[in-house]
Amino acid sequence: MTANSMQTRTHPSEATETPHVPEPSRPSLAPDAGRPSAPTLPPAKPAQRAIGKRPRMGTFLRVLITVTAVSHLPVAAAFAEMFRRLGLPSPWVLGSLLAAGGVGMFIARAGAGLTDRRRGAAVLRLVDVPFFIHWCAAIFTITPSLIATLAIPWFGVPMGVYMAAYLTGLVIAAYGILVRRRWFVVKEVTIPIPGLAPELDGLRIAHLSDLHIGAITPKSWGERWVRAANAQAADLTVITGDMVTSGVEFHEDIAAVVGELRAPLGVFVSMGNHDYFGEGEPLISLLEERGAEVLRNEGRVLERNGKRFYLAAIDDTWTRRDDLKKALASRPAGTMSILLAHDPERFLHAAKAKVDLTLSGHTHGGQLAVPFLARVLSLSHLTHHFHLGLYRKGPSTLYVHPGLGTTGPPIRIGVAPAVVVHTLRTA
Ligand SMILES: [Fe+2]
Repeated sequence: MTANSMQTRTHPSEATETPHVPEPSRPSLAPDAGRPSAPTLPPAKPAQRAIGKRPRMGTFLRVLITVTAVSHLPVAAAFAEMFRRLGLPSPWVLGSLLAAGGVGMFIARAGAGLTDRRRGAAVLRLVDVPFFIHWCAAIFTITPSLIATLAIPWFGVPMGVYMAAYLTGLVIAAYGILVRRRWFVVKEVTIPIPGLAPELDGLRIAHLSDLHIGAITPKSWGERWVRAANAQAADLTVITGDMVTSGVEFHEDIAAVVGELRAPLGVFVSMGNHDYFGEGEPLISLLEERGAEVLRNEGRVLERNGKRFYLAAIDDTWTRRDDLKKALASRPAGTMSILLAHDPERFLHAAKAKVDLTLSGHTHGGQLAVPFLARVLSLSHLTHHFHLGLYRKGPSTLYVHPGLGTTGPPIRIGVAPAVVVHTLRTA
């Protein structure tokens, strides 16, 4: 494939950035699930909206703490049964103390601050990862334990079931945290574009999203993703937001990773909600110093084989910085257009604006899904209509990326992290 590397900026000096505002802090204890999106157009937003609305994370945390506490009731029983079988004295006391310790540790982590900070390798391996495996196992224990508890009148107290459920949960959680989360794939996606010019037929786009580089997802993982992306010989490379988990401590690591991406037509970035959970502006400066173009409600005219097309991106929707109209303002009439939008919720607006292809991320595919059925049975499907993979609205296409990193519990089951390569074809 030959790609004309000429790149034309349509309005490089046009100021499109929103004024700097205090950034909302937001915890990173859950995947990007939150606001459900519907397959209908939401109401048009006012031209000037408040920026930086703080999500209701206090309530969210209280729910999480309650769920954690409830999940540790059968875990206490599981521990007690294990200690009884091992012949230890006072197994219920020991089991209850251990389970209480698990709840206390969760509360301490939640209360200690939700900004992502660098952790020592020993702390990660000996404290953080084992704790997350335990916590996820406790959550998995809830359903089978509830069913077994409801059957007590018929079968008696199911101590063995509690123990088996927790141990099974440990195995599943260990797989999701130690194996599936690290084991990324390179995924090829062919996207038919109605009326695509022959010169653009075969255009390849390497698509990364939701890197969430930080304490639990180190820079070295990002470097592996970059090597995989660069090896695809794509015409251009895009990142659809959420390079950060929270805070600013990993900005240099992120910029170093993104700065290694290479593509003939350039590397383009849209901002995600997590990129503003701290300070977004320093990250943008660092990324641009390393050669990436951060598009904030703006676009570029690119050219391949002598044929022009338009690549634009909207800024983050959660902090209400997005402005689709502005992003498309410089689009030449009749050009094939691609929009980077971290939040897939804007797809219907993009389709209405005759954007040919919208690339999104944000949902992580829920991070937890039934293997091979993630499109139908995943956590993200509970809160998002457009939550994973390809969607169409008339001639317009959306692709929702499964993400590379994680937020909340660092686990993935049934939704592999992926470097996605799109190939556009004339339909
Ligand atoms: Fe994300």
